[in-house]
Amino acid sequence: MASRILSSKCQASLCFVFLVMFCLCKGLDSPLSPMDKKEKEAIYSVIQGFFGKWWNGSDLYPDPCGWTPIQGVSCEQYDDGFWYVTAINLGPVFDNSLTCSHDAKFPLQIFKLKHLKVLSLSSCFLYPNQNPVKLPISNWNTFSDSLECLTLRSNPGLVGSIPPEFGSLRNLQSLVLLENGLTGKLPPSIGNLVRLRQLVLAGNHLVGEVPFNYGRFSKLLIFDASRNNLSGALPSTFGFLDSLLKLDLSNNMLERLLPKELGRLKNLTLLDASHNKLRGGLVGTLMEFVSIKDLVLSNNPIGGDLLGVKWENFDNIEILDLSNTGLEGCVPESMAKMKRLRYLDLSNNNLIGSVPSSLENLPSLTALHINGNNLTGKLDFSEGFYMKMGRNFAAWNNSNLCYIAKPTQPMLYGVKPCVQ
Ligand SMILES: *[C@@H]1O[C@H](CO)[C@@H](O)[C@H](O)[C@H]1NC(C)=O
Ligand SMILES: *[C@@H]1O[C@H](CO)[C@@H](O)[C@H](O)[C@H]1NC(C)=O
Ligand SMILES: *[C@@H]1O[C@H](CO)[C@@H](O)[C@H](O)[C@H]1NC(C)=O
Ligand SMILES: *[C@@H]1O[C@H](CO)[C@@H](O)[C@H](O)[C@H]1NC(C)=O
Ligand SMILES: *[C@@H]1O[C@H](CO)[C@@H](O)[C@H](O)[C@H]1NC(C)=O
Repeated sequence: MASRILSSKCQASLCFVFLVMFCLCKGLDSPLSPMDKKEKEAIYSVIQGFFGKWWNGSDLYPDPCGWTPIQGVSCEQYDDGFWYVTAINLGPVFDNSLTCSHDAKFPLQIFKLKHLKVLSLSSCFLYPNQNPVKLPISNWNTFSDSLECLTLRSNPGLVGSIPPEFGSLRNLQSLVLLENGLTGKLPPSIGNLVRLRQLVLAGNHLVGEVPFNYGRFSKLLIFDASRNNLSGALPSTFGFLDSLLKLDLSNNMLERLLPKELGRLKNLTLLDASHNKLRGGLVGTLMEFVSIKDLVLSNNPIGGDLLGVKWENFDNIEILDLSNTGLEGCVPESMAKMKRLRYLDLSNNNLIGSVPSSLENLPSLTALHINGNNLTGKLDFSEGFYMKMGRNFAAWNNSNLCYIAKPTQPMLYGVKPCVQ
């Protein structure tokens, strides 16, 4: 009896051993994640294109979608039973990530990966002089049904223009071309990408006007074209970007007025158009942004005054930076009605008149910059207010301004006490 039990146990465990061996053997001659031969060859040559000739995929990664995954490459199984590459994420994400070689190319075999949904390359093409790399002009249409996210980030060696054929990537939801060496104009064809939720073009050398059909991105949440050399006026079609939350156009050469249609954007929370050449006065520029939190227009020759704007309607505003915008006239009392305002910068303008002491009543204010104007009269804030502001109160360089000194109050930097 005992021996019979023993033997049946043995049989069971032998059976288990055979099963394991069978699985392993099966694993060796036909991989657990079968791939189309061409797909497999394509992913090997793509990765080799980035990492260099020494990288031998067939040696190290016989089953790239299965038990020998390539770091940064993901696959999915499709209805035909085969596994296909759906994501390539290369860049210094992990400490042990491989880095692109000095002579990395943009491998054309990538267009054989017909199921690719995500392509992300960061810090791959680093040498604009020794190894300038251009994006392929054609073949992007092979990704038109698949590609959802395209990210090319921190590649100073990625030069040349944005391929107009990007306009065929009709499934794209995120296009991030951040901090590369891209030049030339913005292709109008990108306006066809109506599923985009994020369009980031910041930190390149792009020039010319923003195409008017970029107003077609009805699902767009973020538009960031900062740190380029874009010129001309922002098209009024931007008033149709109904979902927009963040609009960053800072550090360009944009001219004229921001379109008043931007006032339609009920969800816009951040508008940064600082360091441009915007003109035309604040009243024309500032519509009633019901939801705006951060409004940064500094360093533009906007001109005009603060009087015609209905500041009391800016219910959500927290940051208002109008420094160095050529503002004239007085600081209106209505500015003291922005109840969520934390940061107010009116420095380096041509403001005149006295500073309303009602600004003290702004409950959330923690920084007030009015330096570099021609403000006059007496600063009459309480000691508590100066304490709250600390170093974030700046009033110097207003030659005819003085402050009413309170007994225990520290001196205000760059402002004279009033002669009583
Ligand atoms: C990779 O290694 C295999 C086996 O050592 C060899 O047959 C193949 O040619 C190599 N491939 C490349 C691209 O070097
Ligand atoms: C913009 O253009 C100016 C003058 O042509 C140039 O000096 C500057 O480097 C450019 N900036 C960018 C971000 O390309
Ligand atoms: C604006 O934001 C609200 C709340 O997040 C959202 O429900 C609404 O759909 C957004 N509007 C548009 C046009 O996207
Ligand atoms: C400041 O205003 C005074 C008159 O209030 C004027 O005399 C003076 O020229 C102005 N200074 C500057 C730098 O605008
Ligand atoms: C005031 O402006 C002058 C030049 O306009 C500048 O040199 C100086 O540092 C500024 N600050 C103070 C506190 O005077």
